[in-house]
Amino acid sequence: MAIRSDEITSIIRGELKGFEAGADVAGVGTIVEVGDGIAQIYGLSGALASELLEFPNGIMGMAFNLEEETVGALILGDYTSLKEGDQVKTTGRVVEVPLGQPIDGKGPIETKKTRPVERIAPGVIVRQPVDTPVQTGIKAIDSMIPIGRGQRELIIGDRQTGKTAIAIDTIINQKGQDLICIYVAIGQKQSTVAQVVAQLEERGAMDHTIVVSAAASDPAPLQFLAPYAGVAMGEEFLDNGRDALCVYDDLSKHAWAYRQVSLLMRRPPGREAYPGDIFYAHSRLLERAARLNKDSGGGSLTALPVIETQAGDVSAYIPTNVISITDGQIFLQTDLFNQGQRPAVNAGISVSRVGGNAQIKAMRQVSGRLRLDLAQYRELAAFAQFASDLDKATRDQLTRGEKLTATLRQPQFAPVPVEQQVAILWAATNGHLDDVETAKVGEFETEFTRFIESTNEGLLPAIAKEKALNDDLIGQLTKAVTDFKEQTGYGKASAPEKGAAKPTEAQAAKEEEPGAKEADEAQPAAKEQQPAAKQAGKAKKASKVAAAKEGDDAPPNEEPKA
Ligand SMILES: Nc1ncnc2c1ncn2[C@@H]1O[C@H](COP(=O)(O)OP(=O)(O)O)[C@@H](O)[C@H]1O
Ligand SMILES: [Mg+2]
Repeated sequence: MAIRSDEITSIIRGELKGFEAGADVAGVGTIVEVGDGIAQIYGLSGALASELLEFPNGIMGMAFNLEEETVGALILGDYTSLKEGDQVKTTGRVVEVPLGQPIDGKGPIETKKTRPVERIAPGVIVRQPVDTPVQTGIKAIDSMIPIGRGQRELIIGDRQTGKTAIAIDTIINQKGQDLICIYVAIGQKQSTVAQVVAQLEERGAMDHTIVVSAAASDPAPLQFLAPYAGVAMGEEFLDNGRDALCVYDDLSKHAWAYRQVSLLMRRPPGREAYPGDIFYAHSRLLERAARLNKDSGGGSLTALPVIETQAGDVSAYIPTNVISITDGQIFLQTDLFNQGQRPAVNAGISVSRVGGNAQIKAMRQVSGRLRLDLAQYRELAAFAQFASDLDKATRDQLTRGEKLTATLRQPQFAPVPVEQQVAILWAATNGHLDDVETAKVGEFETEFTRFIESTNEGLLPAIAKEKALNDDLIGQLTKAVTDFKEQTGYGKASAPEKGAAKPTEAQAAKEEEPGAKEADEAQPAAKEQQPAAKQAGKAKKASKVAAAKEGDDAPPNEEPKA
């Protein structure tokens, strides 16, 4: 840091003046330069790394660069009121987060407790393997990319692909359970954060949620510190043997904030102008996620960092860093999202390296098959569009894949309990949805769940309790799905080769029920024609033309008019 010569002379003068007095000046320094949220301070020879510094007007700062002559400090507040020559004092404390300085205007939180923002992560001795799931309530994730308590799972994708939505749904799904959620918003618009809080509030999720916000309008040093503050709060629960979940939304903006302060502090820029220790900044944050063993209280801290990619480029610097730090990633894709496949999870490249240990056995039983079928489907679908006539086995596989893909669609704010997920995924992977129109899969799921709850109310609780599908439960599920399809007529219209599809009165009534709203909007026309077609009772063979046009789920109900 260059210091101007008149500053040097004034400092030397000051030194000489103070020399005879023998005053102890350790711990008090003078600002020699201030601006852009940072200050250079002369005279703080005793400052510690990331020590809290006290500026005038009650503004706090953090020692960031310890140099030979000066200390570079981040100013955690309004730096415009500070000027050269102001005195700065050390406090002897490293930067810490008060557990209770609310910004939502709902009154103070009664506590005097503080925790250091930076802490060394728990070592391997006090940890134990991850074995308890964090149920997100999202079918595509709980089934294929399970997240365990203590795990670090990255949510990655372009902007507007539903990254935040996944985090929020996960938080909402913890309602009434034992997982405390901390949502850290970094560099987002204040209005966006306010919306998220409103959504959480509306769904009763703020009772178990802490929101830490360093908005885009806040100084970069605060954005840099926010995730560490969030994890420090999570550690309070971890240390007390509780379970906590930290969402960092998002770490790309965190990296920008860190790059900004580092460049201002003249730290040497590295790749993409990020400072050399950006990897360390993220790894020491995520390393603090842990599952402690019984002797250490048995708490857990799960981390869900979010990374925003540019045009799907996961090989950029920050994405690759965070991918390598975490235990897996949920990859969201824009084209899937735009096709209406939401949540837009790319099942092929999303992984959870903790895997099945973080699932109940029943889910493992259905999800193995699901992954396999979907993988085969992707492979086939890639070349099937060029092939004119396919053999039956291939067509069946394509149908299965399509129904499974449709089953994994889910609207926002509608988390599904794990036992319901098991029931519907069991039905889908065992081919019970193969003859259901793809556009009606969502509707099928809703009604099927309702059917089970009304005709066999013990079934879903039994799955939840047993946590595994034994022969008895499978028998009950089989009966439920057969009865359900019998009564409602699902699948019959789309499976002409199986014979007549004479709908019952009950079915006709059911078809008119509102409740189809969340079904895919992709084929509204087909949906409207469906009841009429069924009532006419002549939903017969699917037109070959339609089949060729629409793929395997051609709505045959367009046919009867002909
Ligand atoms: N499963 C879903 N179904 C329907 N809409 C969704 C779903 N997930 C997200 N969205 C919508 O997509 C938009 C972008 O989601 P958001 O989570 O803000 O994306 P990101 O955080 O990736 O920028 C939002 O308007 C949200 O309501
Ligand atoms: Mg977002």
